Amino acid sequence: MAAMLEGKIGIVTGAGQGIGRESALVMAREGARLVVSDINLAMVEETAHLISQAGGTALPLKVDVARGEDLQALVELAVSHFGRLDCAFNNAGISGEGALLADFSEEGYDLLMAVNLKAVWRAMKLEIKQMLKQGGGGAIVNTSSVGGLVGKEHLSVYCATKHAVLGLTKSAALEYGAQGVRVNAVCPGVVRTPMVEAVISGTGTSLDDWSKLQPIGRFGTPSEIGEAVAWLCSDRASLVHGHALVADGGLTC
Ligand code: NAI
Repeated sequence: MAAMLEGKIGIVTGAGQGIGRESALVMAREGARLVVSDINLAMVEETAHLISQAGGTALPLKVDVARGEDLQALVELAVSHFGRLDCAFNNAGISGEGALLADFSEEGYDLLMAVNLKAVWRAMKLEIKQMLKQGGGGAIVNTSSVGGLVGKEHLSVYCATKHAVLGLTKSAALEYGAQGVRVNAVCPGVVRTPMVEAVISGTGTSLDDWSKLQPIGRFGTPSEIGEAVAWLCSDRASLVHGHALVADGGLTC
């Protein structure tokens, strides 16, 4: 069977570690040629190196998703180097302060909104315009969260951004489905990444306790999310549109 993303050109944000890095590795394994981006250049250079060691093709780019000009440069590099844009994984995100709603700072709120929400909206604008310029078609996957489906103590603003990402995803699906641009989201549960380790250490609870939150009795792995993302980006998911794919080991059952 042919690789799922053979011939596709893709971009990934937040690809320096965690879910973004492993998803980029899965996408490249499935044949996509990628521009991998992150606010941390050294980390995303390492991602590109890992992809190339595994036989894939990826260009690294420093992108702060909170900066519109950086997102523009990301789409432009995919088009100038590879000729087009077929799929985009808008994944970069932060968890924020981990404070109760009444204690949350204005600065923390603004930063979370800029990185987790406005950046996704801006990226989608650029990606959709490029896909329409090419004559339509293409697939966008946004990273929401189980925090986009339910609330969580100490993560109210994070959850607000992730609920809003689903609103953007579903509305864009309604607007651009007729032009063949599929728009979906992935909602990871508790995936062991540097972000989750930092969140857990801030709560005073143990990694072991958190690993048992999901009915499968363990953390998710970043590459398990990558498998879902690669499939959503591929033509095999051709009827899947405006969907929030929950990959949470049963957490929200
Ligand atoms: P992580 O912290 O391990 O990796 C995030 C990556 O994004 C890092 O490489 C970081 O440098 C980059 N990044 C941060 N701010 C950026 C910015 N302004 N511009 C560009 N890159 C930036 O996090 P993880 O866990 O891999 O999370 C990835 C996405 O998945 C996030 O959107 C997160 O909210 C979401 N998510 C994660 C879950 C988990 O259990 N790990 C659960 C649900 C959602």
